[in-house]
Amino acid sequence: VHTVPRVLCSSETAPLAATRMTERVNGIGLLGCGTVGSSVARRLLELHPDLLRAIAVRDPLKPRAVDWNDFDVDPFEVVDDPAVRVVVECIGGVGLARELVLRAIARGKDVVTANKDLIATEGPWLASFAARTGATLRYEAAVGGAIPIVRALASSLANEDVLEVGGVLNGTTNFVLDAMEKGADYGAALAEAQRLGFAESDPRADVDGHDAAHKLAILAGLAFHRPSVSGGVLRRGIGELTADDVRAGAERGWQLKLLAIARRGAHDGAAIEAGVTPAYVPAEHPFARPRGAENVVRVVGRRAGTLTFAGTGAGGDATASAVVADVIAALENRERHLPAHVGDDLVTQPLRARVLVRFDGGSLVTPEPVPLDQLEATALVYGAHGVVRAVVPLWDDAA
Ligand SMILES: NC(=O)c1ccc[n+]([C@@H]2O[C@H](COP(=O)([O-])OP(=O)(O)OC[C@H]3O[C@@H](n4cnc5c(N)ncnc54)[C@H](OP(=O)(O)O)[C@@H]3O)[C@@H](O)[C@H]2O)c1
Repeated sequence: VHTVPRVLCSSETAPLAATRMTERVNGIGLLGCGTVGSSVARRLLELHPDLLRAIAVRDPLKPRAVDWNDFDVDPFEVVDDPAVRVVVECIGGVGLARELVLRAIARGKDVVTANKDLIATEGPWLASFAARTGATLRYEAAVGGAIPIVRALASSLANEDVLEVGGVLNGTTNFVLDAMEKGADYGAALAEAQRLGFAESDPRADVDGHDAAHKLAILAGLAFHRPSVSGGVLRRGIGELTADDVRAGAERGWQLKLLAIARRGAHDGAAIEAGVTPAYVPAEHPFARPRGAENVVRVVGRRAGTLTFAGTGAGGDATASAVVADVIAALENRERHLPAHVGDDLVTQPLRARVLVRFDGGSLVTPEPVPLDQLEATALVYGAHGVVRAVVPLWDDAA
């Protein structure tokens, strides 16, 4: 009889697993102890008091909800610490974080990161560098917070011929668009999101679609087995949407969401279309459901059919859940490598979707999908009907 090890069956036994891990002197060095890092630290301390060897922060005097007295201010020292085998990068950005991850990989240490900016811009070559030094690079938390979509694509669906991947990947824009639906204009909705901590003081990464494009590039690389970076992903943000756009959708039973989708072209199966765009989604569509920090990721496979993953896409504890799972995989030497894709970088064409054109005196949905980079040209084409007020994509799975 094939028995599942008890440690995989029950959360009660997790500390037991941690005990075994430490017997191999596998210390963890945590870089950053902010929203995500502090949740990671608390969970690691719960698992076993000796797992966590060092925590680096910028300001060691800042009060934090973590029972730790000896913060380091030099994160490179933490990376170099011989007692640290797994480096957990929770600083963010592509400057310092990149240097630290490189250093850890160069020393053959396993790296776990939640840093989508870094993985979406340099992930492919960092992964191949890691493969050369015997290190590993894990980044489950970089997309979808607690939703285990990276592992699903890299492992469970590794043999699947993916036709489409993506969905609603950014919580800040969910919040802003929800507030607009309740009557606020864009500026007021964004200000409210900032006041409540749903948007950064510099919200551009979210509202301009960079964050979603980063996550989409990571998903597309895993889904289509090619090195993938976010630079080439066509991207439109939510900043130009108006209360009229929201109203026009509501009248038709549609909601506005920031979608991030990559898929095999309908006309040319070899081409991959990708894009980040605000789009109308019918109220009953799974992409219409997420609110606030919720994300929805959908994978359409030739054989597997449609798989929908939904859950909490941000926040300290949810993100730390994915980070700590990666840490445990590293300590247990499981899943040594996410696929290190080879060949040329994935080059994508602009995503195509039908669009709602609103002009003075009426509106229409284009009969054919329009590439996202052709929305302005579409407005010109339909100018003959009247002054065009808005051209907004519609995602109804039909086109
Ligand atoms: N927040 C989320 O919901 C979420 C979700 C998914 C992924 N992520 C990703 O997770 C990563 C961390 O995000 P976060 O929200 O936790 O950021 P955060 O709250 O701003 O925390 C950043 C941490 O890095 C530390 N740090 C900055 N510069 C440093 C330096 N020079 N030396 C040592 N430590 C330094 C800061 O130290 P001080 O505390 O002393 O300032 C802080 O503890 C990012 O890559 C982000 O994209 C976040």
